[in-house]
Amino acid sequence: MSIAQTFESAFDFEKFIAVRFDDLGFSVKVNNKQNEPGYDFLAIKGQRIIAVQVKNYKNKVSIKQVTKFRDYMDRSNIKEGAIISSKGFSVPAIASIAAEKVKNFHMGHLCENKITWDYLSQSINKKAAKQKSSHYISVFTAKGGVGKTVVSAHLAGAFAISGYKVSMVDGDPEENLFRLTGENASVPNSRTGQSNRVKVSKISDWDATMLDEESITIFDCSPSFERNSLNLLKKTESFIIPTSLSPLEIGNKAEVLLKTIDKIRGCNTTASIFIILNKYYIPNRKEQQRYYDIKTIISGLGDYKCLMIDPEKKVSIRESKLLRNWGTESDLAFKTVAGRCYPRDDFLRLTEYLMEHLNIS
Ligand SMILES: Nc1ncnc2c1ncn2[C@@H]1O[C@H](COP(=O)(O)OP(=O)(O)O)[C@@H](O)[C@H]1O
Ligand SMILES: [Mg+2]
Repeated sequence: MSIAQTFESAFDFEKFIAVRFDDLGFSVKVNNKQNEPGYDFLAIKGQRIIAVQVKNYKNKVSIKQVTKFRDYMDRSNIKEGAIISSKGFSVPAIASIAAEKVKNFHMGHLCENKITWDYLSQSINKKAAKQKSSHYISVFTAKGGVGKTVVSAHLAGAFAISGYKVSMVDGDPEENLFRLTGENASVPNSRTGQSNRVKVSKISDWDATMLDEESITIFDCSPSFERNSLNLLKKTESFIIPTSLSPLEIGNKAEVLLKTIDKIRGCNTTASIFIILNKYYIPNRKEQQRYYDIKTIISGLGDYKCLMIDPEKKVSIRESKLLRNWGTESDLAFKTVAGRCYPRDDFLRLTEYLMEHLNIS
């Protein structure tokens, strides 16, 4: 007789599973609308809310049941869900989720009083969750007007669209970002039609202890290195250096980039550094050569954690009217025009690139 059969009612089984989530460090909120389809309880930890459905059936959970719950999640805008079954899942049900590498969805069954995971898209484990902490990204170039503020805000927006809890800190005493967005930047998402919000703090109001686990903090720096918070620069795990290839912006021999990297390394020897080309357009042959020359100069530093992102093969932020004119409202420049939005595409690609290169969970 399997352990699940010893439960007298579906409710007992549900309670048992709820306690397992409690063991994993979640607080549990039971859904009182019992007759509605959907979840049985919410498991809550920090910003993370998992809608959990438990199934105490005679048979294994089928693809159809999984799909039904995922459809319900989409309709109800639920960000993370789990099904816990007393009898496990059919092999195709697990394969269908695993093949798509579905994010934010978990499938588990009860085995010897513990949940055994058949599919886990991210850790639910108490220990692993504790190890996570905010990832600090600083956007810094030792030069004004290169796009630090534009890149900070839109990178934060792209992380928010990708499901991350992001906050921004305006580190520039000029407060360009804060004056523009106020305490929240709104991130239009044309796919869902709903806006996300990204919190923006002034450096004077910012307090590291306010941050939740698993969040990303993006710091929009002042071009004058000394005016930034040394504490934050030291905490930074990834620096993003936005720049164009223009000799006026970075100097004929990339002097501005070299100075930027030198300043960063002066206080932080371990962070990853990514140079991203901003205001990018299709280059002519001479401009292409300039890119290679500058890349050679940067590689010549021998700093293996400092990468110049290839604008053609990887990512660049294209020159766009939307970004040039951004600033009349706190909405980010992510609205589609005729179904397209270059800034949105570019910043999502940058997010994807960073995820591949960094230890962001
Ligand atoms: N990819 C881009 N396409 C078009 N204009 C841009 C782009 N990136 C930045 N800009 C414009 O360049 C100017 C400087 O940007 P900003 O983010 O304020 O630079 P910084 O913070 O480095 O001083 C702004 O007018 C901004 O709209
Ligand atoms: Mg700025």
